[in-house]
Amino acid sequence: MNPFYAKLDADIKATLLAQIRNLWTHTSTAIEGNSLTLGDTAFVLEEGLTVAGKPLRDHQEIYGHAKAIEIVYAWMDKQSSLQEEDLFALHRTVLTEAIMDIYKPVGKWKNESNFTNYIGNDGRQHLREFPAPKKIPTLMSQWLEKLNQFCAKPLTGINAVGAYASLHLDFVTIHPFFDGNGRVARLISNLPVLRSGFPPIVVPTEARQEYKRSISDYQVTIPELERLETLPGLPDNLERDHFRGLCRSYWEPTQTLLREAMEMQKKRDVQRSAAPEHEEDHGAGDNIGR
Ligand SMILES: Nc1ncnc2c1ncn2[C@@H]1O[C@H](COP(=O)(O)OP(=O)(O)O)[C@@H](O)[C@H]1O
Ligand SMILES: [Mg+2]
Repeated sequence: MNPFYAKLDADIKATLLAQIRNLWTHTSTAIEGNSLTLGDTAFVLEEGLTVAGKPLRDHQEIYGHAKAIEIVYAWMDKQSSLQEEDLFALHRTVLTEAIMDIYKPVGKWKNESNFTNYIGNDGRQHLREFPAPKKIPTLMSQWLEKLNQFCAKPLTGINAVGAYASLHLDFVTIHPFFDGNGRVARLISNLPVLRSGFPPIVVPTEARQEYKRSISDYQVTIPELERLETLPGLPDNLERDHFRGLCRSYWEPTQTLLREAMEMQKKRDVQRSAAPEHEEDHGAGDNIGR
């Protein structure tokens, strides 16, 4: 299966990949509170410089996420199925802060319960506990099985969004890590999308509230989430459909970037075919016109 950038010359491809990396990294870290803007993120990643006055931690997060994207791209060609250890490697790459705390394991499943706050139908705040640490190995091995099934063969666009949304919602609802669940989910759920020859789905920063709200609305429908034993225990319902619809709309920005790159490529191809015959054919990958 060809990746989404397969038909692009090397320079157009490199620019598109940088644009997507900047957008994906910026949005996913900003959703979690990173203070770097899209411009800052591009500057840091492209120039290797720091932005004055912004925390070192925010810079490290940007680098960690950009590196994690490389890992996910490398898995586009992976022949063997993904394992627990692969997810741990991704977690270690995303969580760049050096944490020396046995209750905050990096590159391992959580070993303590974790919670979220939500506003119930009664308008009051409540605590929701995610599945208990001892349930995580089973739940995540089922989740990995589902991921590997989605990766087994290329999917149509609609099925790729469905796979992304389903993997993403299940991952953040299981919440297997003490931290980094959102970023890892937004990376790894894109693997079937990428393997099917599409650009990644990237949740826009502006959609943060609607995105988190829809995850919370879904979780409200699950009684005793902390006792969840198996993946089929996660309901398929209207709230899940709603999340899928949002994911579909979140695909637009990277599709637009790809379309623009393809248009540039097309223009170049036209120019190339109109060039006098005696001109040497430099082949794909050369920078015609530079
Ligand atoms: N009820 C919820 N409300 C909001 N976000 C949730 C909820 N349940 C799971 N999430 C997910 O958890 C993520 C935050 O979890 P966290 O482990 O801190 O990840 P990260 O450190 O990458 O932000 C959110 O981005 C969202 O994807
Ligand atoms: Mg966090």
